Amino acid sequence: MDNLDLILEKYHFSQEEKDELLAIIKPFYCHDEFQKRMTNIFPHHGNKTLGMHILDDAAVTYILCKKKKEKKKYYNLHIDLAVKIAMMHDLYTVPWQNNTSIKVKSFFHKHGFRHPVEAVINANYWFPEIFKDDNSAKIMIDGIIHHMWPLPVSSLKHEGINEMELVNYDFVEYLSVQNREYLIASLMRHKIGKISFCRSKYHEGRIMSKADKIVARKELTTTSSIIALITGKNKKLLKGKEDVR
Ligand SMILES: [Fe+2]
Ligand SMILES: [Fe+2]
Repeated sequence: MDNLDLILEKYHFSQEEKDELLAIIKPFYCHDEFQKRMTNIFPHHGNKTLGMHILDDAAVTYILCKKKKEKKKYYNLHIDLAVKIAMMHDLYTVPWQNNTSIKVKSFFHKHGFRHPVEAVINANYWFPEIFKDDNSAKIMIDGIIHHMWPLPVSSLKHEGINEMELVNYDFVEYLSVQNREYLIASLMRHKIGKISFCRSKYHEGRIMSKADKIVARKELTTTSSIIALITGKNKKLLKGKEDVR
């Protein structure tokens, strides 16, 4: 069974729900860069691949949005945008566990704080058509940037993205002028020193952020995977004691 089918079966979606969800996530899933993240090159939490983490987040985001709609909450909630945020929120450039090749000068530029910015830049480069509509782009960029809430995201001193020690700074030029402005506006909101400390402005981003926590709680089951969140080192993974799947 394909990984996508596995996810759809896991959450017992109806055929109608499967069709709706697949229509949103398939363009992302089929991209080469996403497929790379479905392999053991990218262990995300413990031994789970980044790709499977993202697919779980997308499914849980979809379920949470459906519940809000059923309860007639958030009349204008865009389920597709929330799921798209899930599909892009962790599209960072290189694996973070046991990666000694990345050295940053500032504590607040470490992977945990910086990766949402990297994800926005990569997503704009890999999926430019997704960001063509200004209003949708604004919601998605803000949702990706603040998905780690209640953890903060790296902010900017002088509204210049180059100060952030980004691995993928070369891709910044592919952002449209408008989307670069949205990115900077999100990063500068509720700025305290070197961090921006707030949740997403939009329901779509807030729901996705909640889904991310629900999924992560189930993934972080070993002490080594939790310690890795702070140190970046997962000894069990390094010694090959955890199979990445
Ligand atoms: Fe993240
Ligand atoms: Fe995540």
